[in-house]
Amino acid sequence: MHSPQTQLQLTDASPAGIRTDALVLVSCEVGDGCRLREGHGLPRGVAAAVDTALRAVGATGHTDEVIRLSSVAGVKAALVVVVGIGADPTAARGPQRPDTKERLRRAAGTGARALAGTAEAVFALGASSPETVAAVAEGALLGGYSFQTFYGTGKTAKAKAPLGTAYVHGLKARSADGKAVIARVEAVVAAVRYARDLVNTPPNVLYPESFAESVSRRATQGSGKVKVEVWDEAKLQDEGCGGILGVGQGSGRGPRLVTLTYAPIRARARLAFVGKGITFDSGGLCLKPGASMVTMKCDMGGAAAVAGAVLALAELKVPVAVTGYLCLAENMTGDLAQRPGDVVTMRGGTSVEIINTDAEGRLVMADGLALASEQTPDAIVDVATLTGAAVVALGERTLGVMSNDEELTAQVRAGAQAVGEPAWTLPLLEELRPTMDSPVADLKHTGEKSAGAMVAATFLAEFVGKGSDGQQLPWAHLDIAGPAFNDASAYGYTPKGGTGAGVRTLIELARSYAR
Ligand code: BES
Ligand code: MN
Ligand code: ZN
Repeated sequence: MHSPQTQLQLTDASPAGIRTDALVLVSCEVGDGCRLREGHGLPRGVAAAVDTALRAVGATGHTDEVIRLSSVAGVKAALVVVVGIGADPTAARGPQRPDTKERLRRAAGTGARALAGTAEAVFALGASSPETVAAVAEGALLGGYSFQTFYGTGKTAKAKAPLGTAYVHGLKARSADGKAVIARVEAVVAAVRYARDLVNTPPNVLYPESFAESVSRRATQGSGKVKVEVWDEAKLQDEGCGGILGVGQGSGRGPRLVTLTYAPIRARARLAFVGKGITFDSGGLCLKPGASMVTMKCDMGGAAAVAGAVLALAELKVPVAVTGYLCLAENMTGDLAQRPGDVVTMRGGTSVEIINTDAEGRLVMADGLALASEQTPDAIVDVATLTGAAVVALGERTLGVMSNDEELTAQVRAGAQAVGEPAWTLPLLEELRPTMDSPVADLKHTGEKSAGAMVAATFLAEFVGKGSDGQQLPWAHLDIAGPAFNDASAYGYTPKGGTGAGVRTLIELARSYAR
């Protein structure tokens, strides 16, 4: 399996003078029309000609608008593509909007998608600082993602190949800044592409064992600085991981726990990332309706995000030690499948009464959180497509943050904000815990019917261990049930299908510990 992907180059040549297939520019809404956004780097006369053409075709500058202009006087590129980014923010009050860096990232993604099938294009989006050039480059490469189906006869219509090379205007390719931007963007984008690939891979191809093999292979091919350890069923039994085993026992494809360790010398902090890796969620005996099951290959999106992030941090030599725990199982209905009423004992000894076999994510995560806690890291962050309730509360694009620590919440939110991943906090409430009391076990894994995302987080909190100060370790839970998979059409740099949600937030969070 190997899909072609957009390659990255930087340029500081005058955009209008570059002989290339396409020149990508951005426009913004002004008054009742639109114009090119400042900083395009075009000669004044050329910019005026583009503005005139935009007016003539009735362009609006709305977010994601794509206008194609051919043979623009003064431009050597065969095609000019103008992507709208909406109005520049002026009002302090109003609905939340992405910041300028993220709007450029999205515009670059839209431009790259519009240029699928094209060999090369120059992106002159007005970036000049390393930060904004990186954002444009990231957007172009993420928008240029392709997952080409590699199954079947190939007789059916195939998607166009992605844009070949994105030349991002704003920095000299051979400058120190330019090289640093290329290295960083390429590592981050590789991590997101990997997470998307894992999510998009059909669940009969990607199951716990093959997921573990993929991660092992990738770690060997990469920086060589990530140690991968795989626990099979026998080992999970020895280690008392009843949550992962319980969920996995209904499938002929046995569960696995994969640990990725990146431990650089002189690490400034030690972090643990825990990912939900249900390679397919049928719901188990509490079977999902068919329609809800169709996208459930995405239920390993958390584990994919963790794997991608840890490998990228090693590639980037970020001076923070990170251990990733991938809790992998397939939730099926085989004759040994877990039943409602079962009592299972998790890593660490806590017993759980099973109520609804479709609430399987929190069970595999319990073992992962308990294992992570044993190493007493400075913070634990888990990522999981955990609840439909998170989608109801926050929609398809916003990830939910639930945490036992205000400072960590702020740090996670800041990281998400910096990379343009929408995130919002939901509270952990003490009154939810008694709703999970069980007559036969330490607790049940479901409780109060409303606030499902928070109930799930309340369950997870039970498995976060204590630090040397006797307090619970700082922990944050990211529910990515909405953003992990885009069932609608592509927008900005987000394709249809697997999105790689959470990858960039995790990387940015770890980088913030290095500063
Ligand atoms: N994997 C699902 C959550 C999910 C829903 C992810 C939609 C992505 C999109 C999870 O395992 C699940 O089924 N949760 C149940 C919990 C309930 C049974 C308490 C849910 O949200 O309905
Ligand atoms: Mn489920
Ligand atoms: Zn699930």
